[in-house]
Amino acid sequence: LDPTTGSHAAAGFHVVITAGPTREPLDPVRYLSNHSSGKMGYALATAAAAQGARVTLISGPVALATPPGVERLDVETAREMHEAAQRLAGECDLFIGCAAVADYRAESPAEHKLKKRDGETGLTLRLIENPDIVAEVAARPDRPFVVGFAAETRDLEAYARDKLNRKGLDMIVANDVSAAGLGFGADDNAALLLWRDADGDGGEVLPPQPKSALARAVIERALERRRA
Ligand code: CTP
Ligand code: CA
Repeated sequence: LDPTTGSHAAAGFHVVITAGPTREPLDPVRYLSNHSSGKMGYALATAAAAQGARVTLISGPVALATPPGVERLDVETAREMHEAAQRLAGECDLFIGCAAVADYRAESPAEHKLKKRDGETGLTLRLIENPDIVAEVAARPDRPFVVGFAAETRDLEAYARDKLNRKGLDMIVANDVSAAGLGFGADDNAALLLWRDADGDGGEVLPPQPKSALARAVIERALERRRA
């Protein structure tokens, strides 16, 4: 029983969560990545486990301890994360794509360390698009309830609604990543939760709060929406 909420709402559920950044190799010693700390995804895993769920965390490289009772699969690249997600998608009840997946990877990572070349002023990298993990999970015939995140610096609701619809998600957690002290790397976050319901567009504002509290609210809403 969860000591903070007294709830066991997710007992018997399998929840799969992607978290953290991905790393896309350029050569054996270098990579492309982003500033994701993994804190929000790990907070979601902790919250789901506290509600009694079986939780699998598909994690990119982060400096965080595995939450107690959570099964963790470590991956590096978007393609590794994609493969793990596809393997688990058909057997879970709730899938949450919280990872900051690198949108692009090097088309052909160098086999040996790239050398600075004399007389050349720059280096051009050719990038190709990575698979969209959360959209592919949502497109499966045996899809679980699918929650995505949207990190935006402007027009938060419009961009997030577009992602909700385009990716075929059930719910989206929209973050304004330009807000000071919130989001990337921070311990606090705020969000706009969006979903589609019978009346059209549903939504709820979750004010700035510790990621642990925000994670509990997201898990609770996802369980409620899934039942609805
Ligand atoms: N996502 C994913 N696989 C990708 C890219 C994104 O699963 N290759 C997921 C993220 O985990 C998140 C959601 O899609 O749940 C939205 O990610 P975001 O980067 O905001 O959206 P993109 O579709 O990549 O659009 P853009 O970066 O251009 O805003
Ligand atoms: Ca992206």
